[in-house]
Amino acid sequence: MSKVAVIGSGNVGATTVQRLAELNIADIVMVDIVEGLPQGKALDILQAAPLVGYDVDVIGTNDYADIFDSDVVVVTAGIARKPGMERDDLLATNIKITQQVCANIEKYAPDAIIMTVTNPLDIITYAALRCTQFDRNRVFGMSGLLDSSRFASFIAKEMNCSVRDVNAMVLGGHGDSMVPLPKYTTVAGIPLNKLMDENTISKIVDRTINAGAEIVGYMKNGSAFYAPSAAIAAMVEAILKDTKRIVPASAFLNGEYGQHDICLGVPVKLGRDGVEEIIELELSSQEMEALQISANAVREGIEKISP
Ligand code: APR
Repeated sequence: MSKVAVIGSGNVGATTVQRLAELNIADIVMVDIVEGLPQGKALDILQAAPLVGYDVDVIGTNDYADIFDSDVVVVTAGIARKPGMERDDLLATNIKITQQVCANIEKYAPDAIIMTVTNPLDIITYAALRCTQFDRNRVFGMSGLLDSSRFASFIAKEMNCSVRDVNAMVLGGHGDSMVPLPKYTTVAGIPLNKLMDENTISKIVDRTINAGAEIVGYMKNGSAFYAPSAAIAAMVEAILKDTKRIVPASAFLNGEYGQHDICLGVPVKLGRDGVEEIIELELSSQEMEALQISANAVREGIEKISP
């Protein structure tokens, strides 16, 4: 049986554990610094097993030693946004937490693949890579699949069609400068711009960019976790089952898309070795420029954390 560790047992962490358990693909250990929280939530999830029908082990712990032998470690530890906050406002606190978490991953699960979720996502992913010094295929962030799923859900609503026929693509940083790509977004194989006028597409693109903030605005005291955990679970499944799914994720770029020394959302092939390939899409000069603006925003954050 594979093993997945989820760091953080808050909204995103615990929901991820629930979704992973329901996929029935790995034993799961959930770690948090709050005493009793991961233990209680893990027991609750385990007690649903006879009803739902999964048959994996789920434990909660405050001891990082329990993540030993994990194939994948999902990092959700950190604070979440409140209304009026940008993802970047979380940086100072979450970078410290990420450094502690990564030191523990290095110590107890040195062969694991790390998937970061904590925001600001691209900067945290970069920090995790630098902290652990793992190869770049083993450290990447979950963001683009979530943004694409949001994009796809809005498209399906607008068209009154099944979400299952929508295939959406969002590149760039997981922030206000993300780059939804209508050109690479299709409904039943038909390009989006053949189905909607530019004005409608532009409204959906804007809503996608602000989708996280829209939810924070409603919730007041926390941020999204149902869709984020669904994206995490889909990516963990692609890794453990070695399916080679192609999804956007925040990956370290070494010349791809003209970018160096940065983590940014791009399409990647996911398999047992993590990011097995970075897919380079042909972009127009306008799309390239938008990606560059997004990269600049991420780079500003990276500079803040560089010694
Ligand atoms: N080790 C383990 N867990 C930690 C640590 C640490 N060093 N520091 C904090 N945590 C835990 C907290 O105790 C809390 O239970 O991380 C959990 C975070 O949970 P929530 O506050 O509910 O936040 P959540 O909504 O899950 O979001 C977590 O994911 O999507 C991003 O922006 C979001 O950065 C945020 C992260």
